[in-house]
Amino acid sequence: MNYTSINDIDNLSQWVKDALKIKKKPLKNKKLGKNKTLGMLFFNPSLRTRLSTQKAALNLGMNVMVMNFTNEGWTLEFEDGAIMNKGASEHIKEAAAVISQYCDIIAIRAFAGLADKEKDNAETVLTGFQKYATVPIVNMEGCTGHPLQSLADAITMEEHKTKHRQKVVLTWAPHPRALPQAVANSFVEMMQLQTEMDFVITHPEGYELNPEITKDSKIEYDQNKAFENADFIYAKNWSNYKEYGQITNSDPNWTVSAEKMKLTNNAKFMHCLPVRRNMIVTDEVIDSENSIVIEQANNRTYSAQLVLQKILKNVK
Ligand code: CP
Repeated sequence: MNYTSINDIDNLSQWVKDALKIKKKPLKNKKLGKNKTLGMLFFNPSLRTRLSTQKAALNLGMNVMVMNFTNEGWTLEFEDGAIMNKGASEHIKEAAAVISQYCDIIAIRAFAGLADKEKDNAETVLTGFQKYATVPIVNMEGCTGHPLQSLADAITMEEHKTKHRQKVVLTWAPHPRALPQAVANSFVEMMQLQTEMDFVITHPEGYELNPEITKDSKIEYDQNKAFENADFIYAKNWSNYKEYGQITNSDPNWTVSAEKMKLTNNAKFMHCLPVRRNMIVTDEVIDSENSIVIEQANNRTYSAQLVLQKILKNVK
């Protein structure tokens, strides 16, 4: 079993229930991972993913090895048949096979480069490891998805939902740097699995996500209208998907403010973090009692622990 996409979840509500059980007794399966090793490979920086996934593995009694390819590993070649006379020193064929000798599960973070849409959509790093590793693969944020984050988001919403049918809004917000679409994509895919929630995506015109991901999810270009009666506001920046990787809008009117939150049904505020304060969201909102960003980050441990637990139960 791999966990590379939200589509690897066979029953979201059951997974959320299972994760909440783990949260109550995180050390219950302390022996499950004994003598098993998680290898965590980072091609990009991380705070939450690195620490929460490591904590999840430790809760299961696993050993953990972390390697930063940004400055520690050999530069890898991913093209089959490449004449390796440029910068790359090692082919993914050997690297993935060798890492599989040391690890029982390999978790990978490899962001979109945002220069070449086709290359990013091909998920070169993740698919290279899936092809040549001989052990299960976990996606710790690839070019197009962040399924550990979205599972944590689903857990967090389950904990904070009120009794009536919930309205959830994914809102784009401005950011000074071009960011990938991965978090937004997985959030959309996770929301499409929710059966008792109304979901709206709001962003400036032109900032549509990949239509193959949004499918028939509702899009509302008027942010104020989208916020009306919302129960959850999930803020995230992403760079332009059509004009790939470009920042074509930085309108501060899209920042989530206390005034905008007043349009909602006393909504909870969510963000995956790290967040740029007073760009994505004002201090007033993120510091308010309706902000559940820290609980979201806490739930990253139980999202990762559920995934590792499911994989370990399949590992021979
Ligand atoms: N939300 C998230 O993935 O955080 P990090 O980039 O710090 O891991």
